[in-house]
Parts: sequence; structure tokens; C-alpha cells
Amino acid sequence: MLSHVPGQLATDPPWWRDAVVYQIYPRSFADSNGDGVGDLPGITARLDHLHALGVDALWLSPIFVSPMADFGYDVADYCAIDPVFGTDADLDALVAGLHDRGMRLLLDWVPNHTSDQHRWFVESRSSRDSPKRDWYVWRDRRPDGSPPNNWTAAFKGVPAWTHDEGTDQSYLHLFLPEQPDLNWANPEVEAAMHDTLRHWLDRGVDGFRADVVHLIGKGSDVEDLPDHLAKGPVIAIDRPFGHELLRRIRLVLEEYEHEPMMVGEVYLLREGQSVAYLGDPLSGDGELHLSFDFRPLHTPWEPEAMHAAIARTQAEFAEPHWPTWVLSNHDQVRHRTRYGSEARARAAAVLSLTMRGTPFLYHGEELGLEDADIPDDRVVDPAGRDGCRAPLPWTAGGDAESGHGWPAPPWLPFPRNASTHAAELQVGVEGSMFELYRDLLTLRRSSPALRWGAMDLAPLAGGLLRYERTLDGEHLTVLVNLGDAATDWPADVDRGGVVLSTMGAAVDALRADEAVVIGR
Ligand code: GLC
Repeated sequence: MLSHVPGQLATDPPWWRDAVVYQIYPRSFADSNGDGVGDLPGITARLDHLHALGVDALWLSPIFVSPMADFGYDVADYCAIDPVFGTDADLDALVAGLHDRGMRLLLDWVPNHTSDQHRWFVESRSSRDSPKRDWYVWRDRRPDGSPPNNWTAAFKGVPAWTHDEGTDQSYLHLFLPEQPDLNWANPEVEAAMHDTLRHWLDRGVDGFRADVVHLIGKGSDVEDLPDHLAKGPVIAIDRPFGHELLRRIRLVLEEYEHEPMMVGEVYLLREGQSVAYLGDPLSGDGELHLSFDFRPLHTPWEPEAMHAAIARTQAEFAEPHWPTWVLSNHDQVRHRTRYGSEARARAAAVLSLTMRGTPFLYHGEELGLEDADIPDDRVVDPAGRDGCRAPLPWTAGGDAESGHGWPAPPWLPFPRNASTHAAELQVGVEGSMFELYRDLLTLRRSSPALRWGAMDLAPLAGGLLRYERTLDGEHLTVLVNLGDAATDWPADVDRGGVVLSTMGAAVDALRADEAVVIGR
């Protein structure tokens, strides 16, 4: 039943359909030099651990030179590694270590904005006649001295414009004032940004996660928006120019034979918006390879809502497209904390790793980590996202501020369950969250039906979510009891065929928050 080997399939799907991607927030993964900040050698030293878990690719949040106003999402040099993370040689060692293990590396590419310390912006700001002036979006203030338009920036609720006294104009920033927006309507910007992709592809990197990539489509059109759209952060820009730019980015990726992939952070939540950024791959007008769908992440652990979210994602990302599945990342409260129990987090792991799509795991979810409690005097993120960025506890010994396998107190406090959920307490321990993830990844690896088979979602039955995964002769059933009470097994399901349960041996009824996989 689970004995297919990939080589027997008539058509091999591209690697990124078949991969499980593991996001690392490098500051918080593993510190090799005792400065309290995780780094590249720290990651390389843990590759056996990640390989044993069974993930196929790593995505690293930004590692480039940055003043860290937004912890790396403010890039001052796209082609150089920030010394806090290591050196070029450290990156080469990481790439080699991954490739030796058959794993891949994705970097985080931040195309919408640079740091205000980037030499492009420093030049742009130096004079109205600078050859780089038009690389950013500069406008005159309105006659009454107010900003050039009514847009609001993300994070602090301030106008999306900062006035530069030296040249008496304002520049656009959809995020912090330290993150000026590039003007992608300028072909020189587009060419320079394409070169930053080539720089890393030439170095053997396997692809990118593209930060708020839909926003590059604003070009240089910055007309007022209706007030109700401009009062909150203006981050839902969805314009045809973005698609044009992405078609050309795709061509850059296709210059390379090692099939580099780009997954886009398309933070657009309305029907059909995110999938549209995959373009039309069949006609050769492909855009992104994968595009995040954040609606499930914003869905509560509640039967109707979760069923509807899954149905919608699967329908919108039907062939020739392919969905992603992401429940946690460095911007959101961890799903273990949001859902409120370990049992739910275990069932969520089954959903993540058995549905049709490419799963993106956020480091620490395989340990069932909760967010950290961040005292007021330890808050460092301008948008208050520190809790989910807490350092990963490798060992149990330690307190909120130190220990846990970190050679020095790390930059943020540890997650609130660090002492009970450290990696050393879970690896090789039957029944742990880590071993559940490992079992699921092993099952997935051995099962073409789970990796790229069809998925049929049944109508919700009470609180019971059910889907079938099929390919050729292989057939698996997944049941997740999202309800508050135990429920009967469906009459047509053979309990003897259970290959995995989140609650140990199957009993007479499916318990609340239990998830099982059945093969037949
Ligand atoms: C994305 C990143 C987030 C960052 C923002 C601005 O949403 O995930 O961490 O702050 O873009 O770059």
C-alpha cells in the first residue's frame, strides 16, 4: 500500500511540488559563536537533525547586510551576507551540506523595498538630479504641506511618506521609514534586481521566497485611494503590472538548469487573488511557481471554517496550479498558541503534511513550541511579532533568558514551553511532537498519493473532516475530528488500516482533536 517508489511514476512532478519546506528564522535557530544571535554555521551544524526530521528544503529569512530595523527585511546589500550571520564561505558550506544530503536552499528576496542605508537609496536621496533619484518613489508634498497621497504605512499607522529636508521631497515607504519602496517602473531597477537573483543562483542557491512580492506591481502610480482603503496599511495592491514583472522574473529563473523556484508572499486575501500570481504556466506565461495562501492561517480551529478554507484553497489552486499550506511563520502567533492545545497542534500537523500541496513548516512547530512571553522592556520588533521569533530550545536546562543549548543569552526570551519541549526531550522519544512530524514525513515520502495524488474532500460530517488521497492503485483516507466531542468512525472506514494516529492506538470512537491516516 505504501510501497511505491517515485521512479516508477510515468511523470515526475517538479521538485517544489514534492518538497516539504522548513522555514528558519536565522537569528533564532542556533548560535555558533556565542553572540546571542543564530547564524549560518549554527544551521550547518544542525543539518543532520533536519535531515533526520525529513524536510527537503530550507527557506532562510533574510541573511543579507542590514541595519535590522525590520530584522533583515530592510536590505542594505542584496549580494552580501550580514556579518552577524556569517561569511560567504559559511553560506557555501551550508549549500554544500544541504546538497550533499539531497536538500535545497531558498533565500528570502525582498524586492519591494530596500534599507534606507542601501547605497542606491543614499545616492537617490543625495540630490534631485541623482541618476538614482527615480529608483525610488519621490513626490512633492501637497501645497498644504501634507504628504503626497493619503496612504498609510504598515506597522506604526503613520503616513507612507517621509519628507527629506535636503531635497525637499517625500519618499514612499509602505513599511517603516527605514524601508523606502523601490520604483519597479524604472527598467534600471528591474535589471538590477534581476541581477541580485542571478548572483545567488550562480552561487548554487535553489530558489527564493519573495517578500510581499505583489507590491512591486504598484510601479510608480501613487494616486490617492478611497479613504477606507488608505486608513489602514496599504498592502493589498493588486495591479496588472505586478504580473508583467513576475513573468520576466520567471524568465530569469528559467535561465538556470537546476530548476530554481520562487514562492511568493502574496498577501492578498480575496478570492482568486493569490493564485493569479502563478500566471498561466501551461501557455508559457508562468509567474511564481508557488504563491502563499494565508487564508487558512487566519482561520480558527473550528469545523465549518476549516473545512471551507481547505475547500476554497483546493478549488482555487486546482490543476494546473498547486497550493501551499502554511499555518505559522515569523509574522504570526504560532498555531500551537493560537489553537490552544497540543492535541490540536498534532492534528494540524496531519493536515499540513497529508493534503495536496507544498507544506511550509516554521522552525519549532515540529517541537510544538509556543510563542514566548515578551516583557515590555524586551520588545524589539516594530510590529510586536517577537513572540513567534523566540529562539529554539535545543536542551531542557535553562530559564526564560538563558541556557537551552545557547552558548550565551539569546536576543529574545525562550518560548514559554522551552523546558518541556526542547529538542533533546523529543528526538527519538515515542509519542513526541518531533516524532509525529518525522512519522508524517516518512509516510509522505513513501506515498506518491500523499505527495502528488488527487485530493477529494468530503462534505463535513458533524465535526469530522475527511479527505481521500489517491494515485494509481494507492488510496489513503485522512480523518480529523475538529469537533469538541468524540465521534463515530465512518462506517466504510476500516479501523484495522490505520497507519498513523495523533493519539496512539485507535479506540472505539474518534476523539476530539484526533487525526488519523488510514491506508487500504
Ligand atoms: C513581509 C515579511 C515581514 C516584513 C514585511 C516587510 O510581510 O514577512 O516580516 O516585516 O514583509 O518586509
